[in-house]
Amino acid sequence: MRLLLALLVLAAAPPRARAASHWCYQIQLKPSNYTCLGPGEWEGSCQSNRQSPVNIVTAKTQLDPNLGRFSFSGYDRKHQWVVENNGHTVMVLLGDEVSIAGGGLSTRYRAKQLHLHWSRAMDQGSEHTFNGERFAMEMHIVHEKEKAPSSNVNEDDIAVLAFMVEAGSNNVNFQPLVEALSDIPRPNMNTTMKSSISLFHLLPEEESLRHYFRYLGSLTTPTCDEKVVWTVFQEPIQLHRDQILAFSQKLFYDHEQSMNMTDNVRPVQSLGQRQVFRSRAPGPLLSQPTLLAPALACLTVGFLR
Ligand SMILES: *[C@@H]1O[C@H](CO)[C@@H](O)[C@H](O)[C@H]1NC(C)=O
Ligand SMILES: *[C@@H]1O[C@H](CO)[C@@H](O)[C@H](O)[C@H]1NC(C)=O
Ligand SMILES: *[C@@H]1O[C@H](CO)[C@@H](O)[C@H](O)[C@H]1NC(C)=O
Ligand SMILES: [Zn+2]
Repeated sequence: MRLLLALLVLAAAPPRARAASHWCYQIQLKPSNYTCLGPGEWEGSCQSNRQSPVNIVTAKTQLDPNLGRFSFSGYDRKHQWVVENNGHTVMVLLGDEVSIAGGGLSTRYRAKQLHLHWSRAMDQGSEHTFNGERFAMEMHIVHEKEKAPSSNVNEDDIAVLAFMVEAGSNNVNFQPLVEALSDIPRPNMNTTMKSSISLFHLLPEEESLRHYFRYLGSLTTPTCDEKVVWTVFQEPIQLHRDQILAFSQKLFYDHEQSMNMTDNVRPVQSLGQRQVFRSRAPGPLLSQPTLLAPALACLTVGFLR
């Protein structure tokens, strides 16, 4: 009998260990009885020193004249995208026909998926912060470098375009995504948007997209690989407060639908020795960057409220 018990305990051990090594956000730790790994224990490269997200101190960013406009390809293609709850976020799968070039990137990058980070609080849901300020949500469009399969791992293998989201007027362009959330409350569920939208529909005015920050960092989820060239746009997307709250209300981390999916936000990481760059400012101001640096800083700060 004792032997049988011992065997049962042994048999029960492996699944338990697997559960313990599964990563989660801070907010999931307590309700899951600390059986998952919170951000402080994430594995892979997560405890290294070139991590993301970071706080962007706009006055300390350095103007880089090579950071020009992006060329967006397929961003105008309207499609009924597949949307998935992956247990950590809601993800829109982007197929193979969307790509970016320019924007100071070394080559063309193909879009794979977009996903978001959010909170119920309108000042807690972004991963990156501007001068310590957090936004309601942050949207990441993840692109992969087009390259030969044999080539080495580089610090810019992945290009993520990051957009802040703030509470404002209702955004009808986001509605097909917001409405899809009701269909995918539990992890591993997917659905198709009921109407077609293009990526441009989700972004701020195209004219504003030449204002952005650039630095080298990591994925913000395990294994936090340090191979991401980050572009964080200054101009936020506006969604209505109710549209933002829908993400926390409709989506769940768990199959039992007991943990609302919210605060899926990694804490800010130390910038260390890294420099954050900013794209060139509009028009003639560019000709004398040193003389105009204070004016540019003012403009940038003004732009960020
Ligand atoms: C956590 O522990 C409580 C009390 O033992 C239990 O009711 C609950 O189901 C557990 N939750 C999980 C996610 O295991
Ligand atoms: C959507 O879910 C179904 C059922 O689980 C699965 O068969 C299908 O592969 C999924 N589709 C995508 C695009 O993930
Ligand atoms: C959690 O989800 C339930 C069910 O959708 C919803 O009624 C509730 O408002 C959500 N809680 C929060 C705090 O968002
Ligand atoms: Zn992300």
